[in-house]
Parts: sequence; C-alpha cells; structure tokens
Amino acid sequence: MSYVSSRFASFGSSVFTEITSVARRAGAIDLGQGYPTWEGPDFVKEAAVVAIRDRSNQYPPSIGLPVLREAIAARWKLDTGMTADPDTEITVTSGCTEALAATILGLIEPGDEIILLEPFYDSYPVCAEMAGATVRSVVLRPPDFAIPLDELESVFGDNTQLILVNSPHNPTGRVFSREELEGIAQLCRRHDVIAVTDEVYEHMTYDTDLVRMATLGDMWERTVSLSSTGKTFSLTGWKTGWAIAPVHLSEAVRAAHQFLTYTVPNPMQWGTAAGLGAGQSYFDELRSDYQRRRDFLADGLGRVGFDVFLPEGTYFMLADHTGFGERTDVEFVHHLINEVGVAAIPPSSFYTDPSDGSALVRFAFCKDDPTMEAALERLEAGLRRPP
Ligand SMILES: Cc1ncc(COP(=O)(O)O)c(C=O)c1O
Repeated sequence: MSYVSSRFASFGSSVFTEITSVARRAGAIDLGQGYPTWEGPDFVKEAAVVAIRDRSNQYPPSIGLPVLREAIAARWKLDTGMTADPDTEITVTSGCTEALAATILGLIEPGDEIILLEPFYDSYPVCAEMAGATVRSVVLRPPDFAIPLDELESVFGDNTQLILVNSPHNPTGRVFSREELEGIAQLCRRHDVIAVTDEVYEHMTYDTDLVRMATLGDMWERTVSLSSTGKTFSLTGWKTGWAIAPVHLSEAVRAAHQFLTYTVPNPMQWGTAAGLGAGQSYFDELRSDYQRRRDFLADGLGRVGFDVFLPEGTYFMLADHTGFGERTDVEFVHHLINEVGVAAIPPSSFYTDPSDGSALVRFAFCKDDPTMEAALERLEAGLRRPP
C-alpha cells in the first residue's frame, strides 16, 4: 500500500533523481543533471562564510534581508532599466522552486486554469496540481521550438488565471523573441491573465538578448518575474531565489511564502547579495564561458552523429537520437548509461504526452572540459548509426 497522496502519485519520482542514481551505480559520466562540476566563485562563498561567523544566524525577515532585496533591485535596474521597490515588490524564497510554488499557491483558486508551454520544468504541473488548478498546454516542436501563437490563443479561456513562461527555456534552449512574448502579452491583456516568468537562466544567452515579459509595455502590472542564485553563481545547492512583482502580486506571493518556508537561511542571502553586486564583467565572463562550452559540446555531439538543436540560452541542449536506431528516449538513455557510460536526461517526462519528447535527449554543458571530453570520447567509441 502506498501512503503517497494521490496529488503526487501520478507524477512518480523525479526523473533526475532516478537517472542520477542509475548513472552513479553504472559509473557513467553525468551530462544529465544540471549542476556545474565546479564550485561557485570564492567572493560569493566568502560572504556567506563571514555571515555565518560574524553576523546574526537567527530568523531573517520573511521577505528576505534588506541587503539582498536591495541587491536584487539594483541588478534588476541594470538588466531592465526598471525600478522595483525592495520593500514591497521583491520577495526572497528558497530557490526559484519555492518562488514558483509560492506564486502559484498565492495566486490560484481551485478550479482556475494555468497555461504551460511543453516541454516544461517538472515542478510546474505539480505546483498546479497542489493549487487545485487545471493545466492547459501547448507543445513547442522541433526544429525551432517556436511558440505556436494561434494554438496558444485557443487554450486561453474564461477560467485562465495564469501563464507560466520559462525563458531562457529548459530544455529546448530557446530564448523567446520579442514577437513571441508580445503575442503572449496580448493574450494576457485580452483575457486578464497573469504572466509568471521563470528566468533562472537569465545570464546565459548566446548571441541573443533576453527579452523580459515585465518590460513589455504595461505588462509589469501583471507579471511575476522569478530567478535564483543557483545557475548564475554555480551554486545550485544554495536554493536562494526571488520573485519580483508589483505590490498587488507580491502580496499574494508573500502570503504563501510566509507559510511554505517562512524565510531563507541568512548566510546564503548575504552571499547572494555579494554575487549580485559583482561588476558587469562577472556576468559577461559567465556568458562567454558558457557559449564556449555550448559550442564545444554541440560540435562534439555533431561529430558523433547527433542532430543537435543549438540552444540560444541555458546550459542544456536537446538532440535527436533517432539516427542511432528506433528507441524511445528512456530506452536510449538507459543504453547510453549502461552500454556507453554517459548519462543524459530523457525529456519525455517534460511533456503531457511522453511521445512528444521520445525522439529527443537532453545534454548539459555545465561541465568542465575534461568531463565533456571524456563523455564525447565514450560517445564516439560506443555509438554507431545503423547502416
Ligand atoms: C527552468 C527551471 N526553473 C527552476 C529551477 C530551479 O531553480 P532553483 O534551484 O533555484 O530552485 C530549475 C533548475 O533546474 C530550472 O531548470
């Protein structure tokens, strides 16, 4: 008998947890889970060390330490030219994951509809379920993974309360264009819908600028922008995130956050504040370093024989694996792990209908050069296209 609430039972365990433990047992090189193989910058970690030693380790304010909210506001101003009030429009959360949960739980009534773009980050439909919402979705399809605006229009309805947009987008690597976001904005205005944007990969865009929903005309008034420390500072274990939104939306996020986690550990807030205060060169170097890693992995996978969809952002890339034989993505990844010695992620669990992702495999390039080189050697030696 299972004691798992029926709310979660249908979602199974996380694909990341499952693949990571299978890959570990098999000794596979991990190009699957999105964690960097290096540790975050010393100046960020040092600020947390100093905080733990010399500052208060008692409960910080529920909405976050002033020093961090001010640093978030300052970075937001640099990135968007817009002003967000640190006292009323910025909320610090336990990673973007909690920001998503607090936003959805804070804004949604049971029976409301939430629109998602597939493939989606796996916590989105689960948060929708926890809030008692119904999910309506549209699928981004290869080769360009463009937002099908006509189809999107058809899923907006009287009960739609919120659309969740992730840009740069995991796992496709899309950075949605101004036209695509304007199209969504039009629909939000017409149907009085709130946009929630997950921008955790905001500083990883390649040869393209990130357009933010909150900056499109009057969209600030109906947008909650989310991000976190994990990707930008290579500190995925810190789980420190935030939500930026006008007062009337921030109130809803805060109402849920108060009772989900109440607050976020002090030292990580001090560290994140130091990171966000870094000079522009930190963010520029992060971007160019990842662009080099992207090109390195894409070239290598191309040589192996994959059809790679070159990402415009994030540290992931999708490739079509069907040139190596007719397998589902899950079968292909198990073959990779057990026969080739490389772990990747099967993306079918990011779709309502798993067959939509079955031809694809996701690789991560937040990995050091020796790791990617060794993985490519194994792939070159172990994978053959059928004649
Ligand atoms: C699209 C997306 N959103 C949110 C998260 C989670 O962010 P955090 O670790 O800050 O909770 C991830 C992590 O992989 C992600 O890919």
